Amino acid sequence: MKDKIILITGANSGIGKAAAEALARMSGTIVMMSRNLQRGEEARRELIERTGHQQIDLMTCDLASLEDIRKFSSDFHKKYDRLDVLINNAGIFVHERMETADGFEYQIGVNHLGPFLLTSLLLDLLKKSGEARIINVSSAAHLIGKINFDDLHLEKSYNPWKSYAQSKLANVLFTYELSRRLNGDGITVNALHPGLVKSRFSYDRRTEKPDSFIKLGEIISITPEKGAETTVFLATSPEVSGMSGGYYVRKKAKRTSKASYDQKTAAKLWDVSTELTRAKF
Ligand SMILES: NC(=O)c1ccc[n+]([C@@H]2O[C@H](COP(=O)([O-])OP(=O)(O)OC[C@H]3O[C@@H](n4cnc5c(N)ncnc54)[C@H](OP(=O)(O)O)[C@@H]3O)[C@@H](O)[C@H]2O)c1
Repeated sequence: MKDKIILITGANSGIGKAAAEALARMSGTIVMMSRNLQRGEEARRELIERTGHQQIDLMTCDLASLEDIRKFSSDFHKKYDRLDVLINNAGIFVHERMETADGFEYQIGVNHLGPFLLTSLLLDLLKKSGEARIINVSSAAHLIGKINFDDLHLEKSYNPWKSYAQSKLANVLFTYELSRRLNGDGITVNALHPGLVKSRFSYDRRTEKPDSFIKLGEIISITPEKGAETTVFLATSPEVSGMSGGYYVRKKAKRTSKASYDQKTAAKLWDVSTELTRAKF
């Protein structure tokens, strides 16, 4: 991993931070993306101190803004001429309906549409790697997800779990569709479920306290380090070299929901996402 350039979104907290630490221990250049400069800088300093690895960069980007994503990509292109691993890890669970800067329902915006645009903008650098990997952190919540094409932004009936599950199903559909479209381009694309992980994810950002429902799950949840293991495996292991279009749990390929294999839904979501983000793949 010595010469690899690895970008991890949402790297200042939880699973992303733990993955960044594990990857930093394997060397290479780690680029941590954080939406907040202060939180990102604190995490970067902590990781440098803990690992002794100096090549840890920090770049800010709010995935809730298409303009910010485009600016991030432009800055990234100025700094790096190649990208070997893109880890679309950042994700959020919001309790009340919110919208991104572009008027998207927040969870579909941050968890799917933002990473969709980001990936399209970085594809040229991934192609230069020769053997690049894209990893999308989804969730078992995709199992109860449905893409609501008639109300993608859930204006008619918002429910945080319906929204989260839709966005995480979108991660799996995007992974499979991108993998099909990149076939033969030297880039693999895989998704994963990290497990039930104790992180800031369970926090209600309005109160900065753990959500009472998710808090129950914390009793059986695993550490971010354990939760990051499948991400690190997909980013580095020779076992998955050349393998694409999979979904992994505890480092093992698993089947996903019936809806996730529907290629018509995947193609339609691709078109809708392209239209909304003006992404060019
Ligand atoms: N924890 C679980 O049990 C679990 C289970 C299944 C899947 N997942 C998935 O795992 C991924 C990581 O979650 P986690 O558990 O590590 O939660 P976390 O500790 O809350 O970390 C999420 C990261 O995403 C960042 N983020 C949120 N909104 C963003 C935005 N608009 N732009 C850029 N970055 C943004 C957060 O930044 P801030 O620190 O600024 O908020 C944070 O760095 C998510 O995709 C989540 O859906 C988690």
